Amino acid sequence: MRHFLRDDDVSPQEQAELLALAAAMKATPYDAKPLAGPHTVAMIFDKPTLRSQTSFAAGTAELGGNPLVVDGGLAGIGRRESVADVARVLGGQASMIVWRTFAQAAVEEMAAMSGVPVINALTDEFHPCQLLADLLTIQEHKGELAGLTVAFLGDAACNMGNSWALAGTMAAMHVVFGCPEGYAPDAGVLVQAEAMPGGSVHVTDDPVAAVAGADVVVTDTWVSMGKEDEAADRRVLFSPYAVTSELMAHAKPDAIALHCLPAYRENEISAEVIDGPQSVVWDEAENRRHVQKAVMAWLYERRGVEPDE
Ligand code: CP
Repeated sequence: MRHFLRDDDVSPQEQAELLALAAAMKATPYDAKPLAGPHTVAMIFDKPTLRSQTSFAAGTAELGGNPLVVDGGLAGIGRRESVADVARVLGGQASMIVWRTFAQAAVEEMAAMSGVPVINALTDEFHPCQLLADLLTIQEHKGELAGLTVAFLGDAACNMGNSWALAGTMAAMHVVFGCPEGYAPDAGVLVQAEAMPGGSVHVTDDPVAAVAGADVVVTDTWVSMGKEDEAADRRVLFSPYAVTSELMAHAKPDAIALHCLPAYRENEISAEVIDGPQSVVWDEAENRRHVQKAVMAWLYERRGVEPDE
């Protein structure tokens, strides 16, 4: 049984296959119906979401399936009943499970116990569906991924930082994190990323050095879900890393700017950049649907197949 819980749950070659499938599905969005039946995809959200819930629901419908959005607050997974019991119940109701929650260990337990493919729609540690959307967007605008330099600015000690380290280097990109000391991606993830053939990863606390010559500039909120109590301190700490027109001027002239959204203008990114000609954030948001359709179709086709078969 294959699952998509972390960026490296697929090989670099499989990542490229998923991006090609997503591009094909985007070109003809209503042709492929692998979930016809309709097969139900249960999608549970324990944290706020706009893009993830709408793109998974619309994408499931486009694949011929039945999107079953489960209110995480009502389900109370891990509080009202155990992850294992929920997994057994949902595995009997749905052909696939999508889950946004806190601990990576929880989605791993769901995958181990449900008997159906499980997709991570964001945990505290990884956001692999967002990374596929980012990569598809970059591929569309730059024509290739391998060899490009990506600068990730701001708080890299989060799911997006970890996922960029893994998925970016898997795509043979050079990923540079510009962040304050202590806010780099997870050390173990960085070791893994450093070992990816073709790609590279580098961490600096100098925002100008981070974006120098970059093809792609990425940022994310400075106040990830669960960090709201630290908001005031974080705004001070991360302010030198704000993606402004002045900072973008150090990247390549044709550099593009990405933000997974929601965005907080004049904090991590200026209105001039996110609403300007270098921004590709609306393509990036739309691409969530196309890449997740590819992931769902791909996993469904491989249900029952072990990773090394
Ligand atoms: N980027 C992202 O995951 O958006 P939502 O939190 O709105 O789902």
